[in-house]
Amino acid sequence: MKKKILVTGGAGYIGSHTAVALHNAGYTPVIVDNFSNSSKNVLQGLEKIIGISLPLYEIDCNDKPAMKSVFEKEGNIEGVIHFAAYKAVGESVKEPLKYYQNNIGSLLVLLELMEQFEVKNLVFSSSCTVYGQPDELPVTEQTPTKPANSPYGRTKQMCEDILSDLTKSKSPVRSVALRYFNPVGAHESALIGELPNGVPANLIPFVTQTAAGIREQITVFGNDYNTADGTCIRDYIHVMDLADAHTKAFEYLDRVKETSFYDTINVGTGQGNSVLEVLETFEKVSGQKVNYRIGDRREGDVEQVYANVDKANKVLNWETKYDLERSLTDAWRWEQELSKK
Ligand code: UD1
Repeated sequence: MKKKILVTGGAGYIGSHTAVALHNAGYTPVIVDNFSNSSKNVLQGLEKIIGISLPLYEIDCNDKPAMKSVFEKEGNIEGVIHFAAYKAVGESVKEPLKYYQNNIGSLLVLLELMEQFEVKNLVFSSSCTVYGQPDELPVTEQTPTKPANSPYGRTKQMCEDILSDLTKSKSPVRSVALRYFNPVGAHESALIGELPNGVPANLIPFVTQTAAGIREQITVFGNDYNTADGTCIRDYIHVMDLADAHTKAFEYLDRVKETSFYDTINVGTGQGNSVLEVLETFEKVSGQKVNYRIGDRREGDVEQVYANVDKANKVLNWETKYDLERSLTDAWRWEQELSKK
């Protein structure tokens, strides 16, 4: 019998790709999503890729009675991945309570239910945002975290603290917080991918939409940073590589002997690329010119951050398969597919 993994936010960008990876690794993903920032069309794409329909609950993760009924109905859930969260940095500054309520509240609901139903293993979606602008690069898991510069970032730090405190209380829940760097790209089939809501805040969907003629021009946020070409540096990881890290995280938790356990792991490529390098690489792989201008710095942006991924390589027995060219090729294929709809 296949092990069931509850995937909150399973219709979202990273969640849907992880559902594919889980299926390929022999698990049954059980999707919980309230579709507040995702589309039901994703499920059709998902079903085409894996060839079966997945159990789905249209539920808000903050709704404890509804979540409880999922645990009851499914019966033998082996583990949980908690993706469901708000993620817009700018919006979190304007509406902090919405972010604290949703991102912290949903984790608490899940943890209480995991304890009650004796579900042991949790993989939590964290972010490199917890490091702020680090004093050393690349960042390791030992690199000190910095005060977050947005309520969004603070919710990720608080959730990590909650998991750490839980371990100290000898809770039977064992967890790994995966600190994602910048997820990009799409499944090679172009049946699922990133679906930004309105004007994209993130770089890659803005680039692909500009190339597709949906946006007139992209603004590069600042070229006066202390980097080789003056633009910010990030670690862009293919979403399928990131998805794979989740299945490996369950294998890792299964190997753990301690009943109470918490760990943090960076998931990136280990390589930093500037905004201009991303634009140049995109133009190369797509054959499209991207109309861009250099603008002011964006408030809250860190100058550069990229991962040391030694720990993920070692303890998860995981490594990336795709490079930036492949990520941008897949992102462009997905954008073109969307344009047909
Ligand atoms: C940030 C967080 C990340 C979080 C994400 C949520 C950090 C280091 N990263 O990602 O953890 O999950 O927000 O949205 O805090 N850019 C442009 N023009 C654009 C858009 C972006 O030049 O139109 C540049 C940005 O200045 C940045 C890079 O592209 O240097 C990537 O930006 P983005 O895709 O928004 O991700 P982060 O801000 O790195």
